[in-house]
Amino acid sequence: MFEKIMKMTVCSVAIAALTASAFNPNEVDREKMLTGTNHYEPMFNDGSRIIMLKECSMTQMTGIIVKTPHDQVIIFDGGNLVDTDNLIDWVRLINGGKVSAWFLTHPHNDHYGVLQKILTEKPDALEIPFVAHDFPPMEWCEGSSDKELLEIQPILDKSGIRQVRITKGMKWTYDGVTVTALNQFISEPKRSINDVSIVFKVELGGKTFMVTGDVHEITSDRLIEEYGDALKCDIVQVSHHGQNGAPKRFYEKVNPEMALWPTPYWLWENSTDGKHLGNFIYKTNYTKCWFQEIGCKRHYITMGHDVVIE
Ligand SMILES: [Fe+2]
Repeated sequence: MFEKIMKMTVCSVAIAALTASAFNPNEVDREKMLTGTNHYEPMFNDGSRIIMLKECSMTQMTGIIVKTPHDQVIIFDGGNLVDTDNLIDWVRLINGGKVSAWFLTHPHNDHYGVLQKILTEKPDALEIPFVAHDFPPMEWCEGSSDKELLEIQPILDKSGIRQVRITKGMKWTYDGVTVTALNQFISEPKRSINDVSIVFKVELGGKTFMVTGDVHEITSDRLIEEYGDALKCDIVQVSHHGQNGAPKRFYEKVNPEMALWPTPYWLWENSTDGKHLGNFIYKTNYTKCWFQEIGCKRHYITMGHDVVIE
């Protein structure tokens, strides 16, 4: 059943091949993006899947489901409140609604909104054994304009769900899929909440996949210093929805063959309205150029579609 629906869903994957030699990000071959080439060999040798969830509104979000060979479900972030039913539907489709582990990269509502809605309005929608995170202390966020931690932490506490505090090097294994946390919260230097994202390395089906959340420069540089070439992964989730997140030098170390972009169309095109391209303030086009320069040729962009990597 799952395989059948998977085949239907993978057709909606948006693909862009960033292969032009004189690459202009505003002149991506749209016909190629639409028709794509879903004729690659499968990435995973054991039936594992990565499902990067679509934006159910115009707002950027990140929600990733890793399906293990025997249908266990590992979730990273989830998305905004409005994205809740899509995530629930996927988990129910895979195994009836049982989550093995739920990881949150950082406390921003375009990442935790789905979990917030489930805990507050749909507590019986899914079985969730624990939520793992390493959010900064409340006082670290006070005084900042960023109040979203102050909203989610009380919700988690009140729900009674088991919270696991992530520390660097922690590992979880489910059905042959291993998740390793590459970092933990460090208070200095003071930086954005995006940049306290926990970065995860996932080993599945003979490949490696890096979940970056919205990590920015300071944490990226720390990871480069600590891991160097060991950051190498086959697949990367492009941080901060593809703009103004991890720097080029971080992606050079990761050196992925495949990039997953949790990026709506307007942000991919840096467009205020989806029609006038390149007229907005975002830096997505720089990131596209970096990936072209490091030779990463397989790109999957959500753009309002669920993306399934098999
Ligand atoms: Fe985000």
